[in-house]
Amino acid sequence: MRNLLVTGGAGFIGSNFVHHVLAHTDMRVTVLDKLTYAGNRASLVDLPQDRFTFVEGDIANADTVDAVMSTADAVVHYAAESHNDNSLHDPAPFLQTNIVGTYTLLEAARRYSTRFHHVSTDEVYGDLPLEGGERFTEATPYNPSSPYSSTKAGSDMLVRAWVRSFGVQATISNCSNNYGPYQHVEKFIPRQITNIIDGQRPKIYGQGQNIRDWIHADDHSSAVLTILSKGVIGQTYLIGADGELGNRDVVERILAHMGQPDDAFDLVTDRAGHDLRYAIDPSKLRNELDWRPAFGDFDRGLEQTIEWYRANEAWWRPQKAAAEARYAAQGR
Ligand code: NAD
Ligand code: TYD
Repeated sequence: MRNLLVTGGAGFIGSNFVHHVLAHTDMRVTVLDKLTYAGNRASLVDLPQDRFTFVEGDIANADTVDAVMSTADAVVHYAAESHNDNSLHDPAPFLQTNIVGTYTLLEAARRYSTRFHHVSTDEVYGDLPLEGGERFTEATPYNPSSPYSSTKAGSDMLVRAWVRSFGVQATISNCSNNYGPYQHVEKFIPRQITNIIDGQRPKIYGQGQNIRDWIHADDHSSAVLTILSKGVIGQTYLIGADGELGNRDVVERILAHMGQPDDAFDLVTDRAGHDLRYAIDPSKLRNELDWRPAFGDFDRGLEQTIEWYRANEAWWRPQKAAAEARYAAQGR
């Protein structure tokens, strides 16, 4: 594989992957990104210009997609509408990008016989009880809760069908919640860090008992690169790093790292249909492809992330007021 197409490469995880690939391989990377509110060209600086090309465009535009796919050996598909809260407010762009966009890419990959890796989420499996220790595996039935997770589930199904019906050379990964630098301030961890920087209190939905399984974005990137090179066509791999934490616990850790009292947060209106708990069993990826996460210590990764938001206000400041205005309109 010489030429890699990365969709959504100006987003949080896609940009991390672009940096990761350019640092650890000699591949050339072309990013296709629409630069929605969530895309940021400033996440793609300091890259080797002889191996990196940026194309601004929509994955649901067949002509645009055809042009970039025609020169790619492989595509890693990150582009999506990615935020549950936005999907509850206006599902339309989720259907258009996550379903029609993925379909458009699959048709082009089929035309050019391009290796396809589809990046998805563990939220396609719905949620788990808070108690009991059960975890998602590749065999867990799909049971998505929100417009976001249902459109991601739909996109996974399209990929599976294009593998079986048309022989598209695809793999799928479903990863747990990511954290790290360059994450949009609408998401849980960066929202709370930037609130505290702004003298505002963190906002916890409901009672904060919901549990997420956190993985550093760098570990997600190394896992995707492993699947791209060693994964078996047609297979799904769950990506996780044993990082289960309750939301209130995460906020208390952020408050402690930032020198605030541990009760300096507000409980706000819960999210409709709020999934209780996500947890990944990553045995298949670890045993079959020999992948291991590098970020074992969540607190160390969290501290580095806090430092990054403190040092890079110019990156997130332009989005903060608009993100908080969207939350204020929802009573959060
Ligand atoms: P993000 O919202 O930060 O980035 C999405 C990117 O896609 C943006 O750069 C945006 O401009 C681009 N985009 C959106 N619509 C587009 C379109 N129609 N055409 C071209 N580009 C478009 O999202 P993220 O958190 O980086 O997530 C990336 C992928 O990883 C998504 O597919 C998401 O479902 C998946 N994922 C995310 C997480 C997580 O914790 N954030 C966990 C598991 C899987
Ligand atoms: P989020 O980052 O939106 O990711 P996801 O919905 O994909 O898990 O939210 C992570 C968790 O944090 C989720 O349980 C909702 C909760 N949450 C809050 O409690 N407060 C907030 O301000 C936000 C944005 C999320």
